[in-house]
Amino acid sequence: MREVDISRASSAPPVLEVRGLRKRFKGNQVLRGVTGCVTRGAATALIGSNGAGKSTLLNIISGLLSSDEGTILLNGRDITGRSGFSRARDGMGRTFQHPRAFTSLTVREAVLMARTPPGDEGIGSNLARALGVLRKAPELDRQRVQECLEICRLDHLSDVTADRLSYGERKLLMFAQVLAFDRDLICLDELCAGLEANVVEYLMGVFSELVRNGTTILFVEHNLELVRELADEIVFLHEGTIYRSGSAGSVLEDSEVISLYLGE
Ligand SMILES: Nc1ncnc2c1ncn2[C@@H]1O[C@H](COP(=O)(O)OP(=O)(O)OP(=O)(O)O)[C@@H](O)[C@H]1O
Ligand SMILES: [Mg+2]
Repeated sequence: MREVDISRASSAPPVLEVRGLRKRFKGNQVLRGVTGCVTRGAATALIGSNGAGKSTLLNIISGLLSSDEGTILLNGRDITGRSGFSRARDGMGRTFQHPRAFTSLTVREAVLMARTPPGDEGIGSNLARALGVLRKAPELDRQRVQECLEICRLDHLSDVTADRLSYGERKLLMFAQVLAFDRDLICLDELCAGLEANVVEYLMGVFSELVRNGTTILFVEHNLELVRELADEIVFLHEGTIYRSGSAGSVLEDSEVISLYLGE
């Protein structure tokens, strides 16, 4: 997410653009006018101190929260008032910082469900649809689900009910659900936090391959080693605005970023 994108002004629109996003929780003005865009086909890291508003920004981008002011464009189209389900159907996927409680679907069923993002009424209110999707899923869908389970190293757990998974396995399940559907933009909120080092190393390879294949990733991460390794660009969120953004090297070497964030 950069502040300006002059080079692409006359070509395809950025995958994601946000303009003037503001969000207040009671007396706490968390976002004070966030404006920027995410470069297509790049990995962009969103960094900032605890409480800076990174998750809030991802929640607004993905439609979980609404902003008080501002506009969100996905592939040049205004999606500001649209639901999270609509954004998912349009190719936006996300994982949550804290894995959510899963239902008693098996791991395989949970990923299969993610193959078909629901209508705006949501999954919960449409159990018949859920059962229909699971029963009628064509062979191709099942193959794709199997691939996602293998990529996320969950294939040995595919028949276990999702509510029996460990914290780390739930995170991997969220990622498998994101991979189950074709995405233009994947937003990851500290996906690697709390995972074992060998799993993180493996996932870094998966992320890099996704980006090589044209997927855009916007990821929140505190581990700067991971940021350095994966990010093409970095956005530094501070005091409710994008304080710095640009190439990974330029932001991480910026003396103000160092004193405001790295120096903590
Ligand atoms: N639903 C909510 N209701 C009230 N306050 C909230 C809510 N969500 C976030 N906040 C507050 O907004 C601020 C930003 O929170 P947010 O979770 O976005 O930060 P963050 O940058 O993701 O932090 P961390 O790195 O710790 O995950 C914090 O002060 C937090 O307490
Ligand atoms: Mg957060």
